[in-house]
Amino acid sequence: MKAIRVHAIGGPEVLQYEDIAKPEPGSGEARVKIEASGVNYIDTYQRSGLYKVPLPFTLGQEAAGVVDAVGAGVTEVKVGDRVAYASVMGAYAEYAVVPAWRLVAVPQGVSAQQAAAVMLQGMTAHYLACDTFPLKPGDTALVHAAAGGVGLLLVQVAKMRGARVIGTVSTEDKARLAKQVGADEVILYAQQDFETEVKRLTDGKGVNVVYDSVGKDTFDKSLNCIKPRGYMVLFGQSSGPVPPLDPQVLNAKGSLFLTRPLLAHYTADRVEVTRRTDDLFGWMNAGKLAVRIDCTFPLAQAADAHRALHSRATKGKILLLP
Ligand SMILES: NC(=O)c1ccc[n+]([C@@H]2O[C@H](COP(=O)([O-])OP(=O)(O)OC[C@H]3O[C@@H](n4cnc5c(N)ncnc54)[C@H](OP(=O)(O)O)[C@@H]3O)[C@@H](O)[C@H]2O)c1
Repeated sequence: MKAIRVHAIGGPEVLQYEDIAKPEPGSGEARVKIEASGVNYIDTYQRSGLYKVPLPFTLGQEAAGVVDAVGAGVTEVKVGDRVAYASVMGAYAEYAVVPAWRLVAVPQGVSAQQAAAVMLQGMTAHYLACDTFPLKPGDTALVHAAAGGVGLLLVQVAKMRGARVIGTVSTEDKARLAKQVGADEVILYAQQDFETEVKRLTDGKGVNVVYDSVGKDTFDKSLNCIKPRGYMVLFGQSSGPVPPLDPQVLNAKGSLFLTRPLLAHYTADRVEVTRRTDDLFGWMNAGKLAVRIDCTFPLAQAADAHRALHSRATKGKILLLP
């Protein structure tokens, strides 16, 4: 089968389209014939070496397709089932072997491409808004990169929970899109000082929570946007990693809470995975959650997909099609 392999860390050019053996499912595993694979920021961190993965490896953390073989003892799925999954390496390929407990059924009305597009970023938006800081009516949230893959979904989930949402984006085009999916206010953080704007929009009070996936460029000012005893949820580093922090800063800025969550810890077992995907697929089929696929690339052009993600030009999901 064809797969995108990484033999040396580096830029998008290290992604190699190769023939490798089709994997066989072991006990408790199923093999998925992939119809669409999601491209995520974590793939770029693993490719560049920011997150260490033993070489060589097949990139990719998310896909949707059809079960075409199962190993011993698998009860969750059977051959022919339409499924999707996230958080298992090896999705930039024609086939992947996945622990069966991680596979969820894709309901009628949701295409393989939509399913691949919502698994990782959608479950992330879900756990951030429902568990890390469970938003409720009356809360105000600041969502950075609100027109990105996670951002567009997080804005919608936050609105469903009744929060007021202030988004940040880099362009007018992205601002329009963030508003379209429900953001109450949008700040163009490349042109405006977002700290000043957040204070203006909250009458100097600040927000209950910042969901910050941008990292280095936004972290310090984000701390200044939070109400006393509010939450700083740092969940990504699209602009680069945040340097080490003196915990005393949290006290000085108002007894703030800081967390650096990871999807894997919020999808710890099958019950937790299906709780999130049942909500996501249910909202999609009810017309409450729009999943925006920005662009698709043939699997062979994974390097171009990474360039697109780095370019900051995409608004929503990038998919690879084998
Ligand atoms: N912790 C977790 O569980 C978890 C799970 C999923 C994703 N994440 C994180 O969430 C973030 C978003 O992931 P995504 O896949 O949905 O990507 P994305 O948001 O679609 O793309 C990243 C966005 O970040 C903004 N950005 C700001 N500074 C940037 C810079 N210097 N270079 C590139 N982009 C910059 C851009 O939006 P503007 O142009 O509007 O600034 C860009 O579109 C990533 O940091 C990822 O690691 C974390």
